[in-house]
Amino acid sequence: MDINSRINLNDGNAIPGLGFGTYKLEEGRQSRHALEAAFDAGYRHIDTAAIYGNEHSVGEAIAASGLGRDELFVTTKLWNDSQGYESALEAASDSLKRLGLDYVDLYLIHWPMPSIRLESWRALEKLKADGYCKSIGVSNFTERHLDELLATSETVPAINQVELHPLLVQDPIRRYCYSQNIAIEAYTPLMKGGRVDDDAIHRIASDYGKTWSQILIRWSLQHRLICLPKSATPERILENSQVFDFELSEEDMDALDDLDQRLHLGWDPYEMA
Ligand SMILES: NC(=O)c1ccc[n+]([C@@H]2O[C@H](COP(=O)([O-])OP(=O)(O)OC[C@H]3O[C@@H](n4cnc5c(N)ncnc54)[C@H](OP(=O)(O)O)[C@@H]3O)[C@@H](O)[C@H]2O)c1
Repeated sequence: MDINSRINLNDGNAIPGLGFGTYKLEEGRQSRHALEAAFDAGYRHIDTAAIYGNEHSVGEAIAASGLGRDELFVTTKLWNDSQGYESALEAASDSLKRLGLDYVDLYLIHWPMPSIRLESWRALEKLKADGYCKSIGVSNFTERHLDELLATSETVPAINQVELHPLLVQDPIRRYCYSQNIAIEAYTPLMKGGRVDDDAIHRIASDYGKTWSQILIRWSLQHRLICLPKSATPERILENSQVFDFELSEEDMDALDDLDQRLHLGWDPYEMA
């Protein structure tokens, strides 16, 4: 496994297992600078969203990188106020314009908005058929939201992107998605850079001569999760990419799994109708 190792998706495409998160990167210099550091460190998978307000800078950084389009994997997401059939088509077109791209590798419904999410999904199917995105998926969908979608659509989402880290190991949704061949992306994998006060994480980091962030990323990857750490800091961006020269033992993976507190650090999608 290395930074370019890919995980196969149910639609025949493949996605790099380590991606670069961009939530809270400010449009402009901060985003461009962080993306440049990420490309230098070897990341080729970028996770952005319309609501992050940085698609334009992400696009500029991609253009400036000199990397070939087929070397990159770019994800963006449909925000809640653009859900619905026509408005989703329009929002996707706006995202592509801001990114300066002809297509994204992955387009996600960001949240399962009540009453309108199935219309949004129909739009994503159309966008995929028309070549504006290679793969389509969802984010923050619970088992109930997926049941509803699968009952009405022949297209199984390639991905479900959910909050997932040792304080929120999400066994039920992981089991559900794997049973349907839906790959899982783990967001907030570093627990937002806080809450790392547990002795087990520090004991394991010290045993392997690694940092707590490297341990958390490695834990995600060894669970076959697609992991999306974010940082605005070049040293941390590099540090977070250096996770392919060690392997956590089964015992240490179990010790990290045991930290589960079902703790959502962001919105809890189980509260959505
Ligand atoms: N689909 C969704 O609803 C959703 C929701 C949330 C997130 N996401 C995606 O998942 C990505 C990651 O989640 P996240 O941004 O919430 O949080 P995260 O990656 O868990 O944590 C980011 C925080 O950790 C800090 N950090 C990063 N590397 C570090 C290191 N090596 N040592 C110490 N601190 C470090 C960062 O600080 P600095 O930046 O200051 O270095 C930042 O404050 C997002 O950027 C986004 O792409 C998706």
